[in-house]
Amino acid sequence: MPVNSRLPGFYKLSPGERLSAVAQASGLREADLSSLVSPDPDMLGIADRMVENVVGTLSIPVGIAANFTIDGRDYLIPMATEEPSVVAAASNMASVARLHGGFHTSTDLPIMVSQVQVVGVADPRAARLRLYEAEAELLALANEQDPLLVKLGGGARGIEVRIVEAAGATYVVLHLQVDVRDAMGANAVNTMAEALAPRVAAIAGGRVRLRILTNKADRRLARVRAVFDRDALGGADVVTGIVDAYRFAAADPYRAATHNKGIMNGITAVVLATGNDTRAVEAGAHCHAAAGGRYTSLSHYEIDGQGHLVGTLEVPMAVGLVGGATKTHPAARAAVRLLGVQSAQDLAKAVVAVGLAQNVGALRALAAEGIQKGHMSLHARNVAAAAGAVGNEIEAVVERLKTDGHVRLDKAEAILAELRATGS
Ligand code: MEV
Repeated sequence: MPVNSRLPGFYKLSPGERLSAVAQASGLREADLSSLVSPDPDMLGIADRMVENVVGTLSIPVGIAANFTIDGRDYLIPMATEEPSVVAAASNMASVARLHGGFHTSTDLPIMVSQVQVVGVADPRAARLRLYEAEAELLALANEQDPLLVKLGGGARGIEVRIVEAAGATYVVLHLQVDVRDAMGANAVNTMAEALAPRVAAIAGGRVRLRILTNKADRRLARVRAVFDRDALGGADVVTGIVDAYRFAAADPYRAATHNKGIMNGITAVVLATGNDTRAVEAGAHCHAAAGGRYTSLSHYEIDGQGHLVGTLEVPMAVGLVGGATKTHPAARAAVRLLGVQSAQDLAKAVVAVGLAQNVGALRALAAEGIQKGHMSLHARNVAAAAGAVGNEIEAVVERLKTDGHVRLDKAEAILAELRATGS
């Protein structure tokens, strides 16, 4: 039966009613869709308030990364990820960094920037200076929008005015810089940008189009460095191999994309577990990787005087502790509690530490035994389960898949059929 995507009044229904409507419109049985339904009715209610047209929720595994010492304090770090090996690799590399004091971090103030785009300005250069002359007035107007933020020590801090030459047009673009304290900050800066728009248009002598934050949050960088013990990594050749892998990523955008994806395996998992905006952080990170005009590695590696690996990483980190899913999602609240962070800057520090550990974990595996060995044992478990193995059958299928060296669904199905036929 062809799907009918017209669902009038769908948004007004309850999640259960929506599921029935979707089953009807898709020609599926409700039972086929029942895995989308949250077993926890409270969670379903929360989800229904978080986004639109909710029918259910999706569970993602949350693992706890162990062994992290960051700025002299131990952390247990929740990571939400569907990818095998990620939590184990981060924990392993944290134990290697721990031998030399763990991770050392720093962050900028939590400054987010919103952009106000002015079109049709006759004298862009003069308009730019007129806007700078009105900085105090514009900051005051911005701060009137959020007295609570100002009371908490945040608020609009400054402006930057840029002239952007686009295809067939010149735009005057005002950047409003706002200290958003412990928020991710999108709402605060977007509200301020909208409030400023009429005044900016009048001063610049043009018309305002976009008023929105930039996800290139490069005034909100988080930095981390750590020393990874040569012997614990597997010896001098592994260390040199990791540096070679880094140089490859630094030189080649094709490799850099994968290298940075490995970093984001860690970063996104913590950002997601704490209910933060994974897409904002991803956009900021990849944009930062191209900040020099060419896409390259986000991390850097050196070898110290004793032959140990020294890793550093610097990434924009627009994460918060107040507002959004971080406050509304009970699992995110629990994750933040477990982390024990008191400020958005502290959360940012934990996130980048995991990013660096994750990167070293991937590079170490690639430089030593190859990524598939560790990956495949966990993957084999998923494949065995996908083939229908249950209970003790899973381990039996995994062992056979590993011995045979082919971790594939068809092989797992054949092994399972054989095990069941022989009763072993
Ligand atoms: C896989 O999710 C991540 C890696 O590809 C990262 C890398 O190659 O550095 C292993």
